[in-house]
Amino acid sequence: AAGPDLAGRHVVISAGGTREPLDPVRFLGNRSSGKQGYALARTAAARGARVTLIAANTSLPDPAGADVVPVGTAVELREAVLRAAADADAVVMAAAVADFRPAVYAAGKIKKKDDQEPEPITLVRNPDILAEISAPRARPGQVVVGFAAETDDVLANGRAKLKRKGCDFLVVNEVGERKTFGAEENEAVVLGADGSETPVPHGPKEALADTVWDLVAERLG
Ligand code: PMT
Repeated sequence: AAGPDLAGRHVVISAGGTREPLDPVRFLGNRSSGKQGYALARTAAARGARVTLIAANTSLPDPAGADVVPVGTAVELREAVLRAAADADAVVMAAAVADFRPAVYAAGKIKKKDDQEPEPITLVRNPDILAEISAPRARPGQVVVGFAAETDDVLANGRAKLKRKGCDFLVVNEVGERKTFGAEENEAVVLGADGSETPVPHGPKEALADTVWDLVAERLG
């Protein structure tokens, strides 16, 4: 691994998956464990960075030296990311954020009534945090990195997403019910806004994390 090339830098990392509540007992969620985001936090701290880790619904040990901010929903994640990004040199969005949330939160548990057809769930859009922090940047020169979880046409979808979001780098990884989510290992291509492509072979999530920090450290100069 590299030396303390992130010393004096503040990096913000989001990890885990948001949960969008329907009622006090149910939510819409996803399969993220937070392992990739925590690997980013551990490796950044090892390279000397001050680390803020915004953790959505994870149950992993706090990385040594990181300031951990627990959140639940996408709206809470947005608040925490915007606050921490104000003085950050880099922001890496590894969290799996729900694009939609239930339009209505029922204060009491939704009951199943006999002979009743199930009620459809109406959804509304969540804020797109990555797009919001990409333009305009909280600080000039701040490096913004997104992740893209794709199941098909991985690279083509990744390129389009990078343009749409406006970040500097997008880490494209393939996901499935048992692929990447919750695993110890990952495999990805890091796309740069300048057209660069950095393939990262199958290996520990720390190895992908270190490649991300190599690119960020180089960009920060
Ligand atoms: O946590 P693990 O089990 O280790 O799994 C790792 C991972 C698969 C969760 C991770 O590697 C990953 O791919 N994270 C991004 C998942 C995701 O939400 O991808 P997306 O393609 O839906 O979103 C693209 C990017 O926009 C992401 O950086 C996401 O954080 C961000 N986003 C998405 C929606 C939204 N409303 N706001 C956002 O900021």
